[in-house]
Amino acid sequence: MFWYHEVTKHSYTSVRSHPNRLSWEDQPNVFKQYPETFVRYKFDMDEAEDNFLYHIAGINAKKSYPGVEYYLRMNPSAGALYPNELYVQLRGIEGKPDGIYHYDVAASAVTLLVQLEEDEGLEPYLGYREQMQGYLFLVSSVYWRSAWKYKNRAFRYCLLDAGHVLGAIEAAALLKPHAAVIRYGMEREMLNHMFGFEGREWFTAAASVAVPLRGSRVLPIEFSLPYAEAARTFEPNETIERAYEESMALKGCKREVRAPNFTYKKESLQEAIFRRRSQREFTGEAITKGQFGYLMEVLSWPILSDCDETVNVYVVVNRVIDMPLGLYQNGTYLKYGDFSHKAGYLCLEQYNLAAQGALTLFLTSSGENYQAFYQKAGIIGHRLYIAAEYLGLGCSGIGAYYDDEVNVFLENDDMILYALAVGR
Ligand SMILES: Cc1cc2nc3c(=O)[nH]c(=O)nc-3n(C[C@H](O)[C@H](O)[C@H](O)COP(=O)(O)O)c2cc1C
Repeated sequence: MFWYHEVTKHSYTSVRSHPNRLSWEDQPNVFKQYPETFVRYKFDMDEAEDNFLYHIAGINAKKSYPGVEYYLRMNPSAGALYPNELYVQLRGIEGKPDGIYHYDVAASAVTLLVQLEEDEGLEPYLGYREQMQGYLFLVSSVYWRSAWKYKNRAFRYCLLDAGHVLGAIEAAALLKPHAAVIRYGMEREMLNHMFGFEGREWFTAAASVAVPLRGSRVLPIEFSLPYAEAARTFEPNETIERAYEESMALKGCKREVRAPNFTYKKESLQEAIFRRRSQREFTGEAITKGQFGYLMEVLSWPILSDCDETVNVYVVVNRVIDMPLGLYQNGTYLKYGDFSHKAGYLCLEQYNLAAQGALTLFLTSSGENYQAFYQKAGIIGHRLYIAAEYLGLGCSGIGAYYDDEVNVFLENDDMILYALAVGR
């Protein structure tokens, strides 16, 4: 097991012996913006390409409390801390020069960072030999935004949240002709350096929604961006930095080339993406067997990527009409019984979610490539959110659980990556 995972486990005693106190004056900013000297292209929702970008990470709700306003986005994030930033190379997209852009969530715009000369681009850093016509996304983490609250465990949340951003790209791409392909193989060090991140932000994955221009050639673009403030405050975290560096190189990757077979109706999907929220509590009502079957089907579809790690999905069936209660995996029951209370306890006693929901899921892996399988868990989580919303159900990610006790319950010794609850 990767040492980082071991040292960031929660247990009944750990959460009680290290109560989490937040230093509010250090609260990081959740929006990165480049200086005004860079050119911004504001999204025009009547333009299909802008509308596509908006549906990935745009703001879709605002919550106001006395003195504060929170903006919620298409993508969920642990603690609404939004540690991820999104960059995109556009090639051949109408209305914008070919170039490398930053996704400015606050302004609902993209900011042009570097314009492309013909024959050059980011492709070689991502292992592509030809020009990719369309979108090449790069997902980064400003880890302090999450570490401010979650301390050492924040690297897990950065990866899960990044997985949700990748899942959001996958979902929005279903509104377009080309599927999203996830790319974990990327020259992280070189790119981090060129983007001027200065160790406070780093790339963990990329995704293409593009087609290769057959016979074209592309040279690695070279640039050096100035550092741009992304969080207002910063405190280095050695554990997280070491975990990132030691999980950077990929080992023994298997490519997944089988495409998922989503059957969503486009209009309803677009509405589901726009409506997506995290459920705060469930009523305790059951879901139907048909809904259960649909969710399981969505989770069984392959995820196109260059480094596909196995992520196991365990489902605690709490309330499904005409189905026995128990722990379920890959079409069979591992054990029977009402484990809803147990599931609530395991998720740090969040009974309102994990015990009251119709299903509680645990995602696990014993893979080699920590960044790849952790982000895959986030993508699977995002698929579940979208499919649940599509069916008129609710979903919530749950990043906090008693790691070792979940292992005892599941009777395995995998790394526990993520829990989620679905229900009404
Ligand atoms: C990785 C991850 C872990 C989360 N963990 C929890 C959790 O343990 N408990 C909870 O109530 N919500 C959890 N959430 C939900 C977030 O609080 C929620 O996404 C955020 O507040 C933004 O709200 P929205 O999803 O409705 O846009 C989690 C979300 C993610 C993506």
